[in-house]
Amino acid sequence: MAENIHPISDSILDRKNKEQLLNQKGLVVWLTGLSGSGKSTIAQGVEHKLHQRGIFTKLLDGDNLRTGLNGDLGFSEKDREENIRRVAEVAKLFKETGVITICSFVSPTIKMRNSAKRIIGDVDFMEVYVNTSFEECAKRDVKGLYRKALAGEIKNFTGLDAPFESPSHPNIIINTTHQSIDESVENLLNSILDRIN
Ligand code: ADX
Repeated sequence: MAENIHPISDSILDRKNKEQLLNQKGLVVWLTGLSGSGKSTIAQGVEHKLHQRGIFTKLLDGDNLRTGLNGDLGFSEKDREENIRRVAEVAKLFKETGVITICSFVSPTIKMRNSAKRIIGDVDFMEVYVNTSFEECAKRDVKGLYRKALAGEIKNFTGLDAPFESPSHPNIIINTTHQSIDESVENLLNSILDRIN
């Protein structure tokens, strides 16, 4: 498919130059977890805190990208894989420009997250598991999706009739049941600062 395509080189120097200009190193922070687990709220909170510290960030979020770039995709396994593949490619572009790129996607299977990690590169990939149980997400049901899914109105719903595979070795686990949003944000912020400083 790509046989006649000759990408211009993404030279390491180029990335270095940009990182020097921004005075920071590019990184992808990848949040995985059930719908309504708190990923987006935590991601937004962390982005805010990083911004306040003068760190240049970009937030990529499932609900937003699915109205634009990935608006043609649904929730079959194949579509989710394509969703994650595109997001990972976009995150890689930002990261190579020196941006701290925060990705908030259900990304429910080990295969999907491994493919994202492969695209982005192991050293620049920080996996964050927002570990909120199905029961807790269903209880909160911020978007009303659990009610619909449990009533059979949404098919392929993650954790119900579509799988969620917990990460086996995430860089950080956030348990939103036992800590406040502020504590979760602070924990993740500290892990990111440790990693980039
Ligand atoms: S992913 O599985 O492909 O990574 P993504 O993070 O982009 O999913 O989108 C998940 C969001 O889409 C959820 O937070 C929820 O608002 C919405 N959504 C709609 N249908 C489903 C479904 N069947 N399963 C999970 N989330 C769904």
